[in-house]
Amino acid sequence: MIINNDTIIKDNDERIRLKSKDVSFPLSEEDKKTLLDMHKYVFDSTIEEIAQKENLRPAVGISAIQIGVPKKMTSIIIKDEEGKAAIEYALVNPKIISSSVEKSYLKAGEGCLSVEAEHQGYIYRSARCKVKGYDLLSDKEVLIKADGYLAIVLQHELDHFKGVLFYDHINKKDPFYVDPDAICIE
Ligand code: NI
Repeated sequence: MIINNDTIIKDNDERIRLKSKDVSFPLSEEDKKTLLDMHKYVFDSTIEEIAQKENLRPAVGISAIQIGVPKKMTSIIIKDEEGKAAIEYALVNPKIISSSVEKSYLKAGEGCLSVEAEHQGYIYRSARCKVKGYDLLSDKEVLIKADGYLAIVLQHELDHFKGVLFYDHINKKDPFYVDPDAICIE
C-alpha cells in the first residue's frame, strides 16, 4: 500500500470520523502488512531526503483510519536526537485502561496528518495513561505506562479510533486558556 500525503485521508473526508473496529486474531497477513506499511511511513517521514522524495509529512504516529482502514491499529515512533527510534510500537487493539486526572498539554499544540488547516490552541489530555494492547513489533501483549509526550501521542492516536480529531478538544471560546493545574510540555 502506498502511503503518502496524497493518499492519507484528510478531515474533509467523512471517513475520518468513522469508528474503528477491533481487529480479530490471529492477525491476517493483510492486517500485518497494513500495520507494517504504516510503521514504515512513520519511520521514513522524519528522514528528510525520503520524505521529500516520497511526499511524506513528518509524523510521530498514524492510525489505520487515516489510510481508510477502520480498524484499531496504530503506529508510533518517537526518535532520539540521532534519529533512532527511541520508542516504537505497532499496536493492535490498544486500549486505555487507566488515565490520570492530572492533565498535560503541548505548548506548541498538536498536529495531525489528516489536518492541513491551522487549529491553534491547547489540547488538554491526561498526563499519564496506561495502554494495553498487542504490539506487532515485539509480537506480544504489552502494557505501556506512559507519561509526558508519549502519553499525549497515544491519546491522540487512540482518539482516531473514535473519529475524534485533536482540534475537537480545543476550547472554542478561549483556545489558549491555561489550566494552572496542568503540566505544560515544551
Ligand atoms: Ni492524528
